[in-house]
Amino acid sequence: MIKMILDVDTGIDDALAIAYAIASPEIELLGITVTYGNTPIDNAFQNTCELLERIHTQIPVYKGAEKPISRSAHFSSVFHGTDGLGETLGKADGVDHISADAVDFIIEQVNKYGPNLTIVTTGPVTNLAQAIMKDPSIITRVGSVVTMGGAVTTPGNVNKFAEANIFIDPEAADMVLRSELPITLVGLDVTRKTLLTQKDMQRWRSMETGLSTLFADFTEYYLNVYQKYYPFLGGCALHDPLAVAVAKDPSLVRTIPMFLKVDLEQDALGRTAEDLQRASLSGPNTFVSVQVDSERFMNDFYNRLDLVLKG
Ligand code: BDR
Ligand code: CA
Repeated sequence: MIKMILDVDTGIDDALAIAYAIASPEIELLGITVTYGNTPIDNAFQNTCELLERIHTQIPVYKGAEKPISRSAHFSSVFHGTDGLGETLGKADGVDHISADAVDFIIEQVNKYGPNLTIVTTGPVTNLAQAIMKDPSIITRVGSVVTMGGAVTTPGNVNKFAEANIFIDPEAADMVLRSELPITLVGLDVTRKTLLTQKDMQRWRSMETGLSTLFADFTEYYLNVYQKYYPFLGGCALHDPLAVAVAKDPSLVRTIPMFLKVDLEQDALGRTAEDLQRASLSGPNTFVSVQVDSERFMNDFYNRLDLVLKG
């Protein structure tokens, strides 16, 4: 079993990633740490807790950063709705999960499990950057980090170069990528090749359970926005679930080792690119995913999600 922390900004595809991780028997989800990103931190926290309640799963949820390290926060309400879940969940009362500090939880779990711990991030990496600043020793002790973020060989989704999770907190992303953390980057290079379509929504709706309707409602919101902005893709990208999948089975992607950095200059802000100036005695330790076995991933995703949605 893979001991995992999932660091999310829930978020529609984050919600799909959470459900997928919960339904994967290979994963022991130790806790979910939450950050701002797709939506303000309180919404992301609320969405995460409410989702877990609807799935009837008890996993501790920890609140983390509410803004980038040195910038003000911007949210992706166009793609995810003002509530982060396509205006579907509303404001539920009585959510009673742990609201302790995400950064302390990350450090504590690295101390406890060291090389047996995998951290998967599916939002801006502010929580992870803060954990490194608080305790740099975690860099050499954590087992692996899988980060959904970046666009190395493909255009960005915020501007020509930058992917959203990196763009939102580029200083945090630069710090994390330049650290010697063992990172596998799952960026737009591969996530745009793993898509859900309208046909999938029809199949989910035909299950006629409360969860299948809820998931189809928020995913359809995301799908409609994708159809508006990216009609050529033919579906909506499973960015965050693919990061979970790669943590379960690294052979799903072909990777290239690189020394990555994040551009911080205004004209290319958030671009993930090879750091040509880097002088290091050790080899590159960011593995950039450049190819994915989409079919194998999609089959596993469908099977796992069906288990959750059928209730
Ligand atoms: C990433 O940005 C967010 O909008 C998604 O949840 C995903 O993590 C894709 O660029
Ligand atoms: Ca996300």
